Amino acid sequence: MELPELKNILKRLYKGYVAKHFKRIIIALVLSLIVGASTSATAWLLDPAVKKIFIEKDKTLAWLIPIYIIFAFSTKGISLYFARINIIKVGNRISGELQKQIARVILIADIQTLDNRHSGKYISNINYDCGAVQGLVSSGVLNIMKDSFTLIGLVYLMFYQNWKLACFAMFMMPLAIFFAKNLGKRVGKVQTQAGEIAGDFTSFLSEIFKASKMIRIYQKEEEEKNNAEYFINELVKKNIKIASVMIRATPIMETLTGFMIAGFIFYSGRLISAGELEVNNFFSFLAAMMLAYQPIRSLATINMLVYQGASASKRIFAVLDNPIETKNDERLSALKIEKCNINFENVSFKYINTEERAIKKINLEIKGGLMTAFVGQSGAGKSTIINLLPRFYEIQEGKILIDQQDIHKVSLFSLRKNISLVSQDVILFDDTVKANIAYADPKASQNEIIEACRFAAADEFITKLSDGYETLIGESGVRLSGGQKQRLSIARAILKKSPIILLDEATSSLDAESEEVVQNAIANLTKNKTTLVIAHRLSTIYSADKIFFLKDGSVLDSGNHDSLMNSSVEYRSLVEKQLK
Ligand SMILES: Nc1ncnc2c1ncn2[C@@H]1O[C@H](COP(=O)(O)OP(=O)(O)OP(=O)(O)O)[C@@H](O)[C@H]1O
Ligand SMILES: [Mg+2]
Repeated sequence: MELPELKNILKRLYKGYVAKHFKRIIIALVLSLIVGASTSATAWLLDPAVKKIFIEKDKTLAWLIPIYIIFAFSTKGISLYFARINIIKVGNRISGELQKQIARVILIADIQTLDNRHSGKYISNINYDCGAVQGLVSSGVLNIMKDSFTLIGLVYLMFYQNWKLACFAMFMMPLAIFFAKNLGKRVGKVQTQAGEIAGDFTSFLSEIFKASKMIRIYQKEEEEKNNAEYFINELVKKNIKIASVMIRATPIMETLTGFMIAGFIFYSGRLISAGELEVNNFFSFLAAMMLAYQPIRSLATINMLVYQGASASKRIFAVLDNPIETKNDERLSALKIEKCNINFENVSFKYINTEERAIKKINLEIKGGLMTAFVGQSGAGKSTIINLLPRFYEIQEGKILIDQQDIHKVSLFSLRKNISLVSQDVILFDDTVKANIAYADPKASQNEIIEACRFAAADEFITKLSDGYETLIGESGVRLSGGQKQRLSIARAILKKSPIILLDEATSSLDAESEEVVQNAIANLTKNKTTLVIAHRLSTIYSADKIFFLKDGSVLDSGNHDSLMNSSVEYRSLVEKQLK
């Protein structure tokens, strides 16, 4: 990361997040000043201690100075404690705020944005990157304040005790700073790589859970184990690298300190014999120099924390800055449903990551209260059309109207409130049956839920479950059969009581018997509703009031089953293939 970019990121972090906690930072700053002063005081006290107690043998100071020393140390300890508490709160709250913002972005993001980035990356942003920012604030900010103040106090004391010796000590400092800067850069680089690997690793982990059966049937345990080991090894390597670069500061600094103290003793000896330095000044100076070691080392490693926090912030800000294309203007009027006629006028749509348009200048006229079916080969654009209606994806051209209201000119909330969706892949939460159905309407009474389940032909199997409606169904409903899950999802759609219903191959994974049950459930769901249905099964298509036959993103033919059988060769051949 280049310096201007780093500065920008830190500036944004400060303005947007840290500045809010200004009061606590100021408190920590004042406490850091006290830490610096009391640390210097402990070194300074050696001067009167040696002079008054050891040389002049003063009786009163012999017990006063030890008391001062106790006081200085405890002041340092207590103020450091409170400074840390304050900064830890700030760091964790900032990290929490970032996590909340990421969570919010994930929840309101465009479906396309989510389609194009692995969920594991988002999880890693929340877990790993926010932790790094917290480290930067909690340790970085406090160390900068307390260590600089301590260093300033100690350097001041050194000059106070003997300026010649102090100049000598200062001469050694640039050397330490040079080493420190170098280390910081190296660690920053490795840290960024480690952050990216952590993201990939999280993605990988979430995949091996989802693919548990596939891994076993294709016998990829060994391969996936190797993949896991690769990620883990890389992370171990990077973490060792980070730690080893960090502790490389120790031998360098220790040797440097050795040189400093050796030179210092040699030089002091000459100053003392020349009568320019007293023994008491020597001890106080020595103490200050030794105490300065810790803040120098800590300041030397601070840029590593800064790099680490900044590269994590960069990844977080990239997520937060992703523009949300699905504009949700709350000031727009609500959609008013009367007849529930739906019209597509010259609608074209292209997915961002593809060349060709998935929907090409389509015109559809859909009568309210009836069932409209979409048929066509795989990839013809059926699911895409259905996804355009609740604005999961934004069209680039044309208009979609519901009762003559442009769906882009009514509030998104009112639009989606009027639409139910049952898709092929049923989404169930790790919760009870009841909670999964009440997701459509949390205020629904027990009776309403049971009624919805009766309509969906789900009540019978639910009551047979161990705890009935209170049965926990596990992550994505693992404890239910495919058809049972589908019926729950239909019950949920019934409970929403919306006038528009979208069914994307809601029955395709069922056997004939369960399909009949689910078909009846669907018939109950769609009675007097405007239904858009995608189905491969002829039984659904026969009963549709209107059928659109799609090919390569365009409407090839439309009409009811009988008229299409007469007018469209392609439709007839599609039906005949199924009957064979
Ligand atoms: N998220 C996506 N990103 C990019 N392209 C997509 C995406 N989803 C679908 N497509 C492409 O858009 C075209 C239409 O896909 P769509 O899912 O609408 O087909 P479909 O008619 O529903 O097919 P199927 O019967 O197989 O479900 C296809 O060429 C497909 O590759
Ligand atoms: Mg589809």
